[in-house]
Amino acid sequence: MKLEAPYALLAELTHRCPLRCPYCYNPVELVRRSAELDTDTWKGVFDQAAAMGILQLHLSGGEPTARGDIEELVAHADGSGLYTNLITSGVLSDAGQLERLAAAGLAHVQISIQDSIADSGDWIAGYAGAQQKKLELAASAEDAGLALTINAVIHRQNIERVGDMIDLAIEMRAQRVEVANVQYYGWGIKNRHNLMPTLEQLHRMHATVKQKIDDLEGRIVIDYVVPDYYARRPKACMNGWGRRFMNITPEGKVLPCHAAETIPELEFDNVRDKTLAEIWTDSAAFNRFRGTAWMPEPCSSCERREIDWGGCRCQALALTGSAANPDPVCELVPGHAEVLATAFEDSRDIEVDFDYRNFGGGS
Ligand code: SF4
Ligand code: FES
Repeated sequence: MKLEAPYALLAELTHRCPLRCPYCYNPVELVRRSAELDTDTWKGVFDQAAAMGILQLHLSGGEPTARGDIEELVAHADGSGLYTNLITSGVLSDAGQLERLAAAGLAHVQISIQDSIADSGDWIAGYAGAQQKKLELAASAEDAGLALTINAVIHRQNIERVGDMIDLAIEMRAQRVEVANVQYYGWGIKNRHNLMPTLEQLHRMHATVKQKIDDLEGRIVIDYVVPDYYARRPKACMNGWGRRFMNITPEGKVLPCHAAETIPELEFDNVRDKTLAEIWTDSAAFNRFRGTAWMPEPCSSCERREIDWGGCRCQALALTGSAANPDPVCELVPGHAEVLATAFEDSRDIEVDFDYRNFGGGS
């Protein structure tokens, strides 16, 4: 297989975050502040990324504006020629900073919402007043000349309001809303018993979102990914392992996907030791599930093997105990029904006891 240049780089600048979402994709063991890459190292990484042909840089976390050098980093990334997107909780920033970030070259901002109802959104985020701050920041994105996407993360505690969340994204004057169902690894799998919707809820959400896509055509773009456990075939996670995407953790480890650290057999190279280009081509972690040679049956002889690339490795690990197994979300995979039935046992309506992520401030 010819190895193309990656298309996008997700830079997790820090794991520090004032929100405590119980489905956060950050690892359960968060990186301490003192272990984070410094400003110059990140700048060097952005230069290398641009030289490799990477087009998009997503600045994420944790909460990327928790870093005091965020404006300097955006300016450098823009100077390197990267299209730069800020993925933010929206609670640490303000209109003034958005204007400075736009002036520094930021092109796009993504703000997450936890619910359409403020009290519920604050409860899910584990942060009083979060929703109000998000609304205020979104209102200033247009003034700053920034394109705005709202990320609506869906689970059992808010799924009945998915239509209201899309309407809220319109009120926030977003051009795009991502309706993203919680992914079950990291904090998400720790809280799966609080988050997993019932099948009936998933059916209702599906109908609502489809209707909204028809009704709101031309007003907002709705990106809707069918929830994994409901689909008949898996998603092409990351567009295939090691094909288009790189993720760098706050301490500089380079991962093929944001949840790859959940896979115990993998070891990751670090930008402190090797260049990004070397890691892209030679890293054992990137090569472990790249292409189709690693695939067991039924994937290895399946006509979709270069369409979905065997689904999601992290999900295969979470559901079957091994990342090298086929993704059991696929109906063609033996044991599919049993695996999903076990997962759906978590959708019972029980008293909620969120295991909130911690701040990750550390020293
Ligand atoms: Fe994809 Fe494997 Fe299922 Fe084929 S068998 S559709 S390659 S997950
Ligand atoms: Fe890791 Fe899908 S999230 S491969």
